[in-house]
Amino acid sequence: MKKIRVNAGRPYDVVIGKGEINNLPSAINKLGKSGKIAVVTDRNVGGLYGEKITALLGGKDVCYVEIESGEEHKSMNTVADILEKLAENKLTRSDLIVALGGGIVGDVAGFAAACYLRGVDFVQVPTTLLAMVDSSVGGKTGVNLSAGKNLAGAFHQPRLVVCDEDFLATLPQEEFKNGMGEVIKYGCIADKDLLEKLSSPGGGLEEIIARCVEIKADFVAKDEFDNGERQKLNFGHTLGHAIEKASGFAVPHGQAVGIGMRVICRWAEERGLTPKGCADAIEALTDKFGMLKGENYRAEDLWNIAANDKKLKGKNISLVLLKELGSSYLYKTTIDALENS
Ligand code: GLY
Repeated sequence: MKKIRVNAGRPYDVVIGKGEINNLPSAINKLGKSGKIAVVTDRNVGGLYGEKITALLGGKDVCYVEIESGEEHKSMNTVADILEKLAENKLTRSDLIVALGGGIVGDVAGFAAACYLRGVDFVQVPTTLLAMVDSSVGGKTGVNLSAGKNLAGAFHQPRLVVCDEDFLATLPQEEFKNGMGEVIKYGCIADKDLLEKLSSPGGGLEEIIARCVEIKADFVAKDEFDNGERQKLNFGHTLGHAIEKASGFAVPHGQAVGIGMRVICRWAEERGLTPKGCADAIEALTDKFGMLKGENYRAEDLWNIAANDKKLKGKNISLVLLKELGSSYLYKTTIDALENS
């Protein structure tokens, strides 16, 4: 088992290891939470693990809330439904929400936790690789609006994150590839050794997840509210979000980030903003994991869609570019300059 401390305003642990879910009841007790628990999950994960988790928390007063699966349900309507259920079940501010699922469940349940009674505690139990290495850690919660992804939300840190690799046994291969987009991102922006480990055969998953979480925890500790350093975690995301939107969300988040990293890196190399060779290395690695190549996506066609990205301040945009493999920087420019580049 590995335990990583996230030094946010209110610090918390991320525990990573096979079978760690079985320690959830005692971990909740250690947090001093002895009241009601609302388990929020979606239909897919609920079908696989809903009964098991409810039984595991059997000694406690549990209410179970299941939302629909899919990006189209990452919405204010879903948050409103969850809030109504929490109120019907008379949860109080000292009670707890457990978010059991992938990134969408974590973001939506976390946002409901941030809003309900102006904020109740929650625990993240991520069940996908993507959620384990990225979205469950760092306190970004929220939903999509028609204008774009994650345009409404709140920073609300969990009290604990439990990453149990056993959940990955039922993870479809396509979902695994999705998580690899974020894993490769961490290597690109902050850890060349991680990229080398990913390029070699084998490699323990627990160690890889733990390294990604360590890197994320480091960025969150430096810049919890995403005003500078943390933005480097968005490598591949500005174009990635545009690709998700352009595809009507047929290209899932992690795979879109994979394409976004390839496209932005090639674009930056052509302009002398990143040394040559980085894009080839990213392409080799994303190909190794069978990820989408996205040959039809070009930066030039995506800036306009990216202009609606929430990270824009006026017409300014901060792109995350690579100094070299394993090191990144923020490149501040404008949408106008990009459209004319
Ligand atoms: N997923 C990027 C961040 O948490 O800042």
